[in-house]
This record gives sequence, structure tokens and C-alpha cells, in this order.
Amino acid sequence: MWIPSATLIVVLAVTAGLCDDRLPPASHTMFPKGFKFGASTAAYQVEGGWNADGKGPSIWDDYLHKHPDFIKNRNNGDVADDSYHLYKDDVKAIKEIGFQTYRFSISWPRVLPTGRTNQVNQPGIDYYMNVIDELLANGIEPVVALYHWDLPVPLQDIGGWLNPDIADLFTEYADLMFKTYGDKVKWWITINEAQSVAGGYGGGNAAPALNLHGTGDYLAGHNLLRAHGKAYRMYQQKYSHQGGKISMAFCGAPCFPTTQSPEDIAAADRCFQFSFGWFAHPVLRGDYPPIMREYIDRNSKAEGRNVSRLPYFTDEEIREINGTVDWFGLNYYTAYWGKEGAVGANPSTDRDSNVNKYFDPNWPSTASSWLKVIPQGLRLALQKLRQEYGNIPIIVTENGYPDNGDKDEKRIGYFETHLAEIRAAIYEDGINVTGYCLWSIIDNFEWRDGYTVKFGLVEVDFDSPNKTRTLKKSAYWFQNYMAMHKLIQ
Ligand SMILES: *[C@@H]1O[C@H](CO)[C@@H](O)[C@H](O)[C@H]1NC(C)=O
Ligand SMILES: *[C@@H]1O[C@H](CO)[C@@H](O)[C@H](O)[C@H]1NC(C)=O
Ligand SMILES: *[C@@H]1O[C@H](CO)[C@@H](O)[C@H](O)[C@H]1NC(C)=O
Ligand SMILES: *[C@@H]1O[C@H](CO)[C@@H](O)[C@H](O)[C@H]1NC(C)=O
Repeated sequence: MWIPSATLIVVLAVTAGLCDDRLPPASHTMFPKGFKFGASTAAYQVEGGWNADGKGPSIWDDYLHKHPDFIKNRNNGDVADDSYHLYKDDVKAIKEIGFQTYRFSISWPRVLPTGRTNQVNQPGIDYYMNVIDELLANGIEPVVALYHWDLPVPLQDIGGWLNPDIADLFTEYADLMFKTYGDKVKWWITINEAQSVAGGYGGGNAAPALNLHGTGDYLAGHNLLRAHGKAYRMYQQKYSHQGGKISMAFCGAPCFPTTQSPEDIAAADRCFQFSFGWFAHPVLRGDYPPIMREYIDRNSKAEGRNVSRLPYFTDEEIREINGTVDWFGLNYYTAYWGKEGAVGANPSTDRDSNVNKYFDPNWPSTASSWLKVIPQGLRLALQKLRQEYGNIPIIVTENGYPDNGDKDEKRIGYFETHLAEIRAAIYEDGINVTGYCLWSIIDNFEWRDGYTVKFGLVEVDFDSPNKTRTLKKSAYWFQNYMAMHKLIQ
């Protein structure tokens, strides 16, 4: 670019001036000291080894073996990234990029093939111990999720999350995990996206795909909350000396009100309460959001039911569940506009919420139809969490950009804009965001989209016998970004 010399002098002068007092404080361009960056995966999406060394089948193994057409190109997670055998390659990439944490999940049926503790699969136990040791040897802190959707089949055979006994079974599994790994693992997530798990019962997009709209989802959600609460109290009683911190990974897509009318503002609030609030309100405030209770009870009555579709907690359960997250795990990908309106199957959680949620046609599309790029929604979610639940420390546990393998610049833009919203939330809103785990370190099995949709910083050649891993442009970008924006301890 040609710059007239007079302009050049002005530019130099302004730049020089910025170097002393006009430069914003370093803290506003840097993340706070101690802020942790990391990357996430989930067992079924990366491990493969679906029946290796004594692993039992999960509901995803089972469902996709029986319904191969459920997934694009009839793919499944039988082999995936083969991280069961190649986890050292994953750790190498995590280390090379420079992350401080790695968030992964334990496959319940890999360690307990029947779901119950009377049959422990030692190779499965050893596998996760090896992953954890490899991480620690490389200075990377593990963040471990106990449930990322892969329920042991024998537990689904007795109703899965619809069966109240699941709370005790989950707690026994959690007990074994805390006992086995708790000396080394200090960050735990009990359940990843309880709302999505419930959606497997209330809808048809995830195993077990029972389509029990507006009933199965609430019942599964109820038992997920009971299971979480019990597991948390058990940790407090038996393992508090380990000093670990427990959360759930909550999900949802917040709504911007379509207009500033009271109706639209109330609809945007219900959009939050029926997604994040469904699970966060019980664990932080002791029961379902009052607006959920009111709307679902009213609809249930109007349908001629004498029992609400949203179950009630006993007083004892409320005491057990209330106050059972030490930090808040936030999975954020996208947002909506929201306005009043009854849409969706009847009954269903969507219809109960009486919110019409829709994407803005101007928001950039991605390879996933459910994900439009709207970084401001992340700050909106953080602000809403602060407003509802006070100043709880928040770790963004998932956030990422899907493409078809060809547009890595857009992934970089996604991270850059979302991380800027986090800094704004920290410095302008005073929200205590303490970490960020992007989704995902590596291309992997993206549920119904199979391997066609890619979220990774690391590309995988799924046709190669070694599932060859290659760092993408976004991986190098992130490496540099952390070096530029992270204050060391
Ligand atoms: C949950 O615990 C908080 C803090 O102890 C308390 O103020 C609140 O009343 C409890 N909620 C319920 C529904 O008991
Ligand atoms: C539910 O309603 C039906 C029909 O009104 C009634 O016969 C039944 O006794 C009620 N059940 C309970 C538990 O109230
Ligand atoms: C944020 O949370 C962390 C972890 O609980 C805590 O140590 C820190 O003091 C908090 N910071 C602020 C500004 O509240
Ligand atoms: C696979 O990995 C092994 C061990 O690292 C190596 O010897 C072999 O050449 C690789 N094969 C291919 C096809 O890349």
C-alpha cells in the first residue's frame, strides 16, 4: 500500500503514543493469569476399539449396528480415530499446540461392560490410567467426564435413564472412577449435556432414540439430576481429601429477544430456562426453574393428566441436588432469536416452552445445519448465567466450528471472535471465566453427520491404517494465539 509520507508520520506518532498510556491495559488484551486453555473429545467419538479387550457395547454401538442408515455414509464409531490405540498421538498434538488441559470422557461400558461394578474390565481401567499418565507426563491437566452419552446396553435394557435405579448405578460407577483416578484427576464432569441425553429419550436424534416427546425427556432428565446429585454427595463423603472440583457440562442455545417487547423478553428468558435452566437451576438453586414448573404443570393439566409430565423431586432429593456444582461447565456453539409461539410436537419441551426460536438468515452458516456463527451469543449466555446464578467460576467446556474439511480460516475466525467475547465478559462484565476447552482437538465421529463434518484442529486421514494426524492451520493459529494472549502464572 502506498502511504504519503505525511500520513506515515502521523501513523508512527499515533503508534508511538499508544505504546505508553493510550494502549489499553495489558489485561484487556490478555487472558487473566491462570486462565487455562484446553481441547475436548468424547469416548465414542474418538476411541474406536468398540469391543476391544473386554469392552461391553454401549447404546451407540448397539443402535448404529442395528440402524446403520441413521448416520451419513452408514458410518459408526467402531474405529473412529482409533484413539484407543493411538492416544499418544493425541497427547502429542495437544502438547505441540500448547494446551494446558485436555477434556475427555470415560466410556462406562469399557470399564464396566455390564454397567455394574461386579464385573470390572481391567484393560479398560488400564487404558484410562495410561491416558491420564501420558497427559501428566507431558504437563497437561486432565478434565474427565464420566458420561458422554455411551450408556452400557444392559442398563438400557432395564430402561436406561428412565429407570430411577440408574442414579445408584451411576453413583457406583462414579465411585470406582474417583477411587481409581481421583489421585490424579482434579477436574470432573459427571454428565455432559444432560439436555442432549434427555433428548435421546424425548426425541429421535440420539440413541436410544425413543421419541417420547415431552415425557421421556423430562423423566430421563429427572434421573440424570438425581444421579448427578448422588454422585456429588458420595464424592464429598468419600473423596473430598482428593480435592477435586465437580461440575456438569451444561448446554443450550440462548435466545436474543426478537424485539424489546415484554412478551419477547419473557420468551427469551424461557428459552434459557428450558435449556440451561432445566439442569442448572436444580443443581444451583434446588429445583426446576419456576417457569418450567408452571408451564409444564399447566399444559399437563390441560391435556387431562392428573400428574405433571415434569416429575417432582422429594424434599430429600432437593437437599441432595441443591448446590452440587463447584464450577460451571458451559458448552456453547450457537444462539437464536426468540419470540412467543407454540411450536414443535405436542407435547414436547419445545412446545411447553412456548418459544419460537429461529436463526437470523444473516448469521454465517457452517457445515452443521444446527450451528450458525453468532459469537455475541456466548457473551449473552455468560451474562445470563451470572444474572441467574451469581459469580460461579465458569469454564467453557465446548466451543467450535464445523466444516467439511476445506475452510479452516473460518474456524480461526470462529475462535478469534468467541475468545474476544470471553475477554469482554471477563473485563467488562466481571464474569469469572477461568478456562476454555475448544471442541475438538481432532476430527472425529460427529454423531448423525458421521465423518463428513469436521471440528478438529488436527486432521485425520480416516482411510489410512494409522489414522494419520496432521495439524491444520487453525492448530498453528491457536498455538500462536495462546502465546500472544495468555499471561503465564
Ligand atoms: C438451595 O440452597 C440455597 C443455598 O443454601 C438455598 O438458599 C435455597 O433455598 C435452596 N433451594 C431449595 C429449593 O431448597
Ligand atoms: C386421575 O384421573 C382419573 C380420571 O379423572 C381418576 O379416575 C384417577 O383416580 C386419578 N388418579 C389419581 C392418582 O388422582
Ligand atoms: C474465580 O474463580 C476462581 C476459582 O474458584 C477463584 O479462585 C477466583 O478468586 C475467582 N475470581 C474472581 C475474580 O472472582
Ligand atoms: C503406521 O505406523 C507405523 C508405526 O509408527 C509405521 O511403521 C508405518 O509405516 C505406518 N504406516 C503407514 C501406512 O503410514
